[in-house]
Amino acid sequence: MAYTREFDANIITQKYMDSILIEPRYIDSKVADTTIDFFGEAFSMPVMTPAFSHLGNYNGRTHNGLEEYSMAAKEVNILNFCGMMENDQFKRIADTGAKTVRIVKPYADNGKVRDQFQFAKEVGAFGIGMDIDHIFGENGYDLVVGEDMTFQTADMLRSYVEMTDLPFVVKGVLSVADAVKCADIGAKAIIVSHHHGRIPYAIPPMMALPKIKEALKGRNVKIIVDCGIESGADVFKALALGADAAAVGRSMLPSLESEGTEGVKKFIEGLGRDLRYLMSSTGFSKVSDIDDSVIHFMK
Ligand SMILES: Cc1cc2nc3c(=O)[nH]c(=O)nc-3n(C[C@H](O)[C@H](O)[C@H](O)COP(=O)(O)O)c2cc1C
Repeated sequence: MAYTREFDANIITQKYMDSILIEPRYIDSKVADTTIDFFGEAFSMPVMTPAFSHLGNYNGRTHNGLEEYSMAAKEVNILNFCGMMENDQFKRIADTGAKTVRIVKPYADNGKVRDQFQFAKEVGAFGIGMDIDHIFGENGYDLVVGEDMTFQTADMLRSYVEMTDLPFVVKGVLSVADAVKCADIGAKAIIVSHHHGRIPYAIPPMMALPKIKEALKGRNVKIIVDCGIESGADVFKALALGADAAAVGRSMLPSLESEGTEGVKKFIEGLGRDLRYLMSSTGFSKVSDIDDSVIHFMK
């Protein structure tokens, strides 16, 4: 696809996020509590790891990047995600003890999809899900690292939900239409995301959030947002606009590459501290209190 104008959804998203401003409210405020309950489990903050795949061993260290960040997620006590991989790699991630949601690709081989969900359940996954934004590619259905993808109907997604008793997460929702379908098929969470710019001119996830939040009112579906999350302020804005949590992405990579588990821990803990500072400074004592009354959009 050839464009002469700005089309990169990552850049458009970044500009949009930077236009969101925060109003402080100090009087009567105390230091805030960032802990959350998610699918019945207590976590230290509404920050999650990204559903990454294909990370090698950095600087010759024993564990690969996927395992290293999973260990960090366990130590900081945040919900962990992982993406496209074979079962043996998922087992090594599950063995870290991190509470992990396994995001499976929309493989054309539906037997593989089901086998990966089943395996995830057997080795103790916290949840399962699918990134629906990898269905299509330039030549029709996508080809990802040599593997064919295919369409996913609501009935197919419902059948995955019904396969196990694990919470099912649909990743790559950017519209009210898809969000409502996710609620209808029994998904327990969606990730509002454009998968670091899968389509040109994708609506910034934070721009899509308020309408999606409104459409899912009373439907018992958690909303996670990702794309461009790199600071506690980004997490705060996501929560104010309607998300229950935000996932970091490539922003975590420099810390992961240089210092592995310890680096990711420090990075996530920093986000947690920044989030607490902003919550305290805006008068929200707990995560569920945060709303958009402190948000302004720069004209
Ligand atoms: C190296 C790498 C591998 C990824 N692999 C997957 C994957 O297998 N499944 C998936 O759902 N998302 C995958 N993603 C996308 C992330 O989960 C996330 O949606 C995205 O990175 C968010 O955008 P950001 O990096 O700008 O924050 C991958 C991203 C990167 C950088």
